[in-house]
Amino acid sequence: MATLIIEGGRQLRGEVTASGSKNGALALMAATLLVEGEVVIHNLPRIRDVLTMVEMLRCLGAKPRLSDDGTLVVDASEIITNEAPSHLVSKMRASFQVLGPLLARTGSARVGIPGGCNIGQRPIDLHIKGLTALGATVLNDGGIVEAESSELHGARIYLDFPSAGATAQIMMAATLILGSTTIENAASEPEIQDVARLLNKCGARIQGAGSDTIHIEGVKRLHGAMHDNIPDRIEVGTLALAALNTGGDIFIRGAVSEHCNAVLLKMQEVGARVIEETDGIHVSPLRRPVLAVDLVTLPYPGFPTDLQQPMGAVLATAAGSSVITEKVYEGRFRYLGELERMGAHTRVEGQTAVIRGVTRLHAAHVTAYDLRAGAAMAIAALGAEGTTVISDVEHIRRGYENFEQKLNSLGATVRTGDTPLEEGSSCLE
Ligand code: EPZ
Repeated sequence: MATLIIEGGRQLRGEVTASGSKNGALALMAATLLVEGEVVIHNLPRIRDVLTMVEMLRCLGAKPRLSDDGTLVVDASEIITNEAPSHLVSKMRASFQVLGPLLARTGSARVGIPGGCNIGQRPIDLHIKGLTALGATVLNDGGIVEAESSELHGARIYLDFPSAGATAQIMMAATLILGSTTIENAASEPEIQDVARLLNKCGARIQGAGSDTIHIEGVKRLHGAMHDNIPDRIEVGTLALAALNTGGDIFIRGAVSEHCNAVLLKMQEVGARVIEETDGIHVSPLRRPVLAVDLVTLPYPGFPTDLQQPMGAVLATAAGSSVITEKVYEGRFRYLGELERMGAHTRVEGQTAVIRGVTRLHAAHVTAYDLRAGAAMAIAALGAEGTTVISDVEHIRRGYENFEQKLNSLGATVRTGDTPLEEGSSCLE
């Protein structure tokens, strides 16, 4: 089991470059299944989830080639099966995004139910509602979702929650379904906008991505294109919070501040100096300790749930008590128990957590329960007294490219028992 060993008390200083968006990459890769031709996508992060999706595309016949510099070449002209290998879907929820594209391309698809994970139940009812509205018969036997239709058609779909995954799924499927489709109460994440940009380059007719209403006019086929993945706004927020928690001063090259407005404004509330430059963001502390704040996680453009845990790690040593309300996932407070092992004072009541700041955390042996909890533990460790050991850091490998290398390049002391990235896993069940 890989661990991270982090020596606390060293300020992060210097420049680091943001990697390509994990969540954007996974959606862009699923979208390539819609295209009869070669798609080239630059700036994919070399992380486990991307490698899993490469395997998924390979199993479906899309002949993916991922180079060391993060450029992916895919040609999904020949889909060889419309059944996604369950062992890949169970490894990563985003794999479920291939359902809509396979349905639209071939008229039917079979994809395993994505597992829940440590942050909540992760339902798929809105995905199913959308594809059903588009004319598919969707069967969900609890293990496999089968969708098929001889007559897909445009539809007007209202999402009860602005689900990023469901919005992407429906938008992608609708690009190849003749007729008009409207998604109301759609998610507006930058990653959704970027998928629409790629598909429109391929000949799709999508309008309104980035707003709460997206219109799609279906077309018969999509052609190849070239695209640059956007920077990872969650990694940017993670690095900025790590710098703040160590009293450091860093420049994050490539960061797009408009993708992180809620996070940067909340950081300024707690006492960070944030300077937005044309090619990145400068972060340093205006005051120490940071100030306690209240925080509510919301769909984009609200404060992202993916940075709730990293922010909680910073608030553990704020001057005063902070109140965090987690409105997106019901299971995203488990990391607070691990912060308690480092001396934090927290109390959870339902979807609300109160964090009473202490002067400084101390080292402990803690566990990363999920990807962003792992990042939160690393942030806490960087500011703590002593050397902290974090277990189950495979989670971090899934979503952060060169995580320890980036921290060490900024002056941290992070050691790890490395587990090589998986390449070439089987397509068999
Ligand atoms: C995406 O997950 C991200 N993952 C998540 O990032 C992120 O936390 C989430 O969006 C919210 O921003 C990827 O893009 C791969 P959702 P997704 O559908 O699409 C409810 C990370 O750490 N919901 O927007 O699965 C659901 O219960 C990961 O990088 C339904 O009710 O998120 C939740 O409350 C974690 N029915 C809310 O929507 C559905 O059919 C958010 O889910 C689908 C979702």
